[in-house]
Amino acid sequence: MTSGRMIIMLGDITKLDVDAVVNAANSGLIGGGGVDGSIHRAAGSSLLDECREIVKKQGGCPPGDAVMTGAGNMKCKKIIHTVGPIWHDGNSNESTVLASCYKKSLELARQNGLKTVAFPNISTGVYGYPKIEAAKIALKTVDDFLKKDDSIEKVIFICFDDENFYIYSEEIKTFMK
Ligand code: APR
Repeated sequence: MTSGRMIIMLGDITKLDVDAVVNAANSGLIGGGGVDGSIHRAAGSSLLDECREIVKKQGGCPPGDAVMTGAGNMKCKKIIHTVGPIWHDGNSNESTVLASCYKKSLELARQNGLKTVAFPNISTGVYGYPKIEAAKIALKTVDDFLKKDDSIEKVIFICFDDENFYIYSEEIKTFMK
């Protein structure tokens, strides 16, 4: 399903041939389960080496921020690692931090001339963010960014589970004019 430059897909982000794949990482950038684990497996060990270098230089990546590495064995050109909020109660700045993940990732893509970007459903797995609320924030933040930017050509929201795919397919209707 498509609205302007935003596309909803069901599938595995590690298989996409885009300029930048976004990873839902942790602050230590040491890999993990979920999409992070799949990306590290697909990219190979050079990814962890690059992440360790970043940690050495800047001491990790705080929630809401993003850093970039190469993509090792993956088809994409770069991987942008962002750290989503852990869901507590909804009153702990979660929505601001989640919006910042999408915004900072797109800013990094733009600064590096990356024109096609794929996002997973950040924070909706291990970090427990309610899926409908997370989808609304993701779509709104990216739509706002694209309104002010014409360098990014395509943003894919790639859903791994049917529930998120259904939610995104419904929520994107709001953005279809
Ligand atoms: N492709 C696309 N999406 C995927 C894939 C994949 N291969 N694997 C999992 N996902 C989806 C999940 O279904 C979920 O909707 O990514 C979304 C985010 O889930 P998590 O990977 O659990 O990420 P998050 O909730 O942000 O938690 C981050 O989990 O793996 C650790 O190191 C990571 O500590 C960090 C935490």
